[in-house]
Formats: sequence, structure tokens, C-alpha cells
Amino acid sequence: MHAKTKIIIDTDPGIDDAIALFMAMADPDLEILGITAVNGNVSVDKAEYNIRRICDFAWHTGIPVYKGCDRPLKRSVLNAEWVHGSDGLAGLDFGDPTYKGEQENAVDFIIKTLMKSFEKEISLVAIGPLTNIATAFLKEPKIVSRIRELIIMGGGFCEDGPRGNSTPYAEFNMLADPHAAEIVFDMAERVTVIPMEVGMQAEADAVFLEKMRDLNTRCAAISADMLDITAKTLSAHLAKTSKTGTAPEKGTSLYDPCAVGCLIRPALFSGRYGTVQVNTDSNDEKFGMTTFEEGNKRNCLVTHKVDKDAFKKMLLMHLADLP
Ligand code: BDR
Ligand code: CA
Repeated sequence: MHAKTKIIIDTDPGIDDAIALFMAMADPDLEILGITAVNGNVSVDKAEYNIRRICDFAWHTGIPVYKGCDRPLKRSVLNAEWVHGSDGLAGLDFGDPTYKGEQENAVDFIIKTLMKSFEKEISLVAIGPLTNIATAFLKEPKIVSRIRELIIMGGGFCEDGPRGNSTPYAEFNMLADPHAAEIVFDMAERVTVIPMEVGMQAEADAVFLEKMRDLNTRCAAISADMLDITAKTLSAHLAKTSKTGTAPEKGTSLYDPCAVGCLIRPALFSGRYGTVQVNTDSNDEKFGMTTFEEGNKRNCLVTHKVDKDAFKKMLLMHLADLP
């Protein structure tokens, strides 16, 4: 028997965060040491509560959950309730959590857990704004070299397409705390980045939602419902903002599940090594935009492609293993 990969997930559920958590819980080779909540799609209070609801829903009651930063390092609070619903989970019935969150702060939990682990024993998966991770790096820089791998969902690097999903230039997790992202990309020693264009390749369209529903499990059903509601919200928004008042039917991007998928099967993703920079000038229209440079430091693997069919198949297989 081989040892499981130990992970901490930093998250702001969020509908795609919920599906990413389902995937991680279902994977037999991952051991989730704790899940930390950060302000992002919703407030940190809602995010923390949602994490416990999601764990309970998947019968993984008791995974320790920690509340982290309630605001970005410097900028004003930015949430995305218009996409994820005011509760963060599309208003669906996840029920109330049956267990309590931990008293310890998320940042202290991350530091303590990494400091007492073996070197390169624990991986971090960051699928929300990077406020908790940056705060932990600044408070105890020794943790940086102890991390086995840091996987970040964030940014946009397409040279011939949109660079952002929150503004034309900025992806949400970067825009919600660009100063934190700058610190993390600067200090981290080994990062894998899943940018928005990769999440968009892995789109959950109507055919995929059917396959999800056919699994006949409650986790798959609620995942399909969340993705369906979000697709409708995004279409209505696009129609409202388009000149013609209509928008083509689109699926929902599986952004955060790709980050967990990359941890489970990195071979499905391809990318290039270099460094990432983040625009932190709040007066610039490109505030929150990420840029990639090939250079000497090369501490980031920025992915640009996923084998989407294999990834989606893997997601279905994971959902099939949950209640
Ligand atoms: C990212 O922003 C959030 O809305 C999603 O949960 C994902 O982490 C995609 O840009
Ligand atoms: Ca997220």
C-alpha cells in the first residue's frame, strides 16, 4: 500500500469549489488534513459554513475546517455572489452542517501543519483568492520551502483571447486580492497554475450534465444542479449585456475541479515554466491581470491545456464514488 498525498485545500465555496471538494474527498489517494476558508466568492463566514455543509453532504463529516482572512490584504472586498448565489451554493439544499468548525485561525493552521510536517510532505491547493496563503507566507516564510507543491487556480494568460472573467483583463481570484497573489508568486518555490482558459476548456455542457445525473448519486445530482443554475445565470447576464439581447447557450467552466484534477493526474495537463507577475496598480484598467515570463527563476508551471475528455471522465468517476 502506498502513502496518500497529504493536502490542505484553501477555498471560497462557490459552486465549482464545491465540486472540487467532492472530487478531493472521493479520491482514494488524497488525505485532506484540513480545509481553510477565505473571503472570495462569498464572505469568509459563508465560505466556512459552506465547506462544512459540503463535507457533510458527501458523508465526510469531521474534516477540520478553519476560518481565515475576512478581507483582501489591501484592496476593498470583492465577492461573486451574482454568479454563485447569495449563499454561494446556488441556493440549493445542502442542509445545515452537523459539526462545528475549528477555533484555530486558518493561517495559523497552515503554518503549524507545515512546520510540523516532513519537508515536501504536504501539498496546498488554493482555489480562492490568495489572502490566506500570502498571510501565512509573510508570517512564517520558513513554510515556503516545506510545501511539496502549491496548485493555484487563477489568472489568465491567453495571448489571443480574453485575459479575464471578472474584467476584460483580470480573472476573479487574482482581482479579488492581487497584492496577495503578487506575494505568493514571488515567494513560492514550486507552483502549478491552472488559469481560467484551462478551466474553460473543461466546460460542463448539457451532455455532460446528463452524464452526471445518470450517476444517480446525490453529490452528482447537486453538482449538475449547481452547474445548470450557474450556466443560466451567466447566459442571462451575457444576454443582458449583449447588443442583440441574446446569448448563445454555454456550459459552465470547471475551474476549481481542474486544480484538484491536476494534483490527482498531472499528466492530463501541459504547460510551460517561468514566472508570473500580477498587476497591483488599482488605478490601472489592467488591475489584477497576470503576465507570464520565461526566465531564470522558473518557479511556476503555467498550464495551458487539459485533456478535457479524460479530465471530465475522471470527475464523473470520482462523483460516482460519493453518496
Ligand atoms: C475562480 O473564481 C471563482 O469564482 C471560482 O470559484 C474560481 O475559483 C474562477 O475565475
Ligand atoms: Ca473558487
